[in-house]
Amino acid sequence: MYTSKISGLGYYVPENVVTNDDLSKIMDTNDAWIQERTGIKERRHIKKGDGNSTSIMGVKAAKIAIERANISKDDIELIIFATLSPDMYFPGGGVRVQEMMDMKTIPALDVRNQCSGFVYAISVADQFIKTGMYKNILVIGSENHSGGLDMSTRGRGVSVIFGDGAGAAVLTRSDKEGKGILSTHLHSEGAHAKELSLEGPSTEHWVPEIIAENPQENIPYYPYMNGQFVFKNAVVRFSEVINEGLQANNLSASDINMLIPHQANLRISQFVQKQFKLSNDQVYNNIQKYGNTTAASIPIALTEAWEKGKIKEGDLIVLAAFGSGFTWGSAIIRW
Ligand code: ACO
Repeated sequence: MYTSKISGLGYYVPENVVTNDDLSKIMDTNDAWIQERTGIKERRHIKKGDGNSTSIMGVKAAKIAIERANISKDDIELIIFATLSPDMYFPGGGVRVQEMMDMKTIPALDVRNQCSGFVYAISVADQFIKTGMYKNILVIGSENHSGGLDMSTRGRGVSVIFGDGAGAAVLTRSDKEGKGILSTHLHSEGAHAKELSLEGPSTEHWVPEIIAENPQENIPYYPYMNGQFVFKNAVVRFSEVINEGLQANNLSASDINMLIPHQANLRISQFVQKQFKLSNDQVYNNIQKYGNTTAASIPIALTEAWEKGKIKEGDLIVLAAFGSGFTWGSAIIRW
């Protein structure tokens, strides 16, 4: 059986920086509250007319990843696109990337697993490579949150957290045993689907139905988050799934060179860091600059860490995510 390795990484974030002070001008919030609760100082928002969309940002990140993998776009055999904010209700972002990058008629698959989207997507890619079906797979996580958030005081508990951006990775077949993606571990618990969700427009909440309802009282078209419930579940599931991955490979926390947690909230990352007794050098966080970019957060953070020379050949890298669904997962990688 083959293994897969990450052969190229890239990310793209829109130029428009939105600070906490900027938000405090349009809603009742403040820098101290946001930083204390989430660690976020600023995030990027697509600006109307700047030419970005979820799939366009994905393409920008993908081009960098493909170039760094030293291959051509024509070597890519499958696109996997993870997002909760596709350009269109359907079709998904993968086919738009295929068109914009002028790729061959390769398959394009969208993954709808929110904050865990990238971990799920690389797990799927890893299986296709392990079985020998494909040699090079492009995996993208991209989100355009800003246009769909409630930017009034009513939505402040959610809208201050999220940012826009995209990250991409190329997974390539390798025959080096014990290197590359060692294992992935995925979970879900649909009982909590509504605790972090956007219910409409959807087939449960068609547009005419939403319009007919009083939008002041029933707002299924904005994301809803039960923040404290999500926080409590996140810290437990992050720890469980990291432990599961380590145990599956006969490793322990002290073997981790770099943990890249989904950038949900700096307090969640710090909690997990403490549980595993990891130093600041063993955990990479950039939520301070970008907010929570959902499916894009891990590939953006992984790319930044790699660009800064924080990931070296032979290092043990752990990716871990938790989010809406609830879904969660981890990937154990020997770089
Ligand atoms: N600015 C100022 N005040 C605010 C804001 C804001 N942006 N948002 C809420 N408040 C107010 C509330 O109205 C409330 O006021 P009240 O006491 O007068 O009623 C008060 O602050 C406390 O609100 P809580 O919601 O109880 O605040 P909490 O301490 O739980 O922090 C937070 C909220 C940051 C969302 C927290 O619950 C959390 O971090 N949850 C984890 C969820 C998370 O990280 N989600 C990320 C996305 S999911 C994922 O990626 C896994």
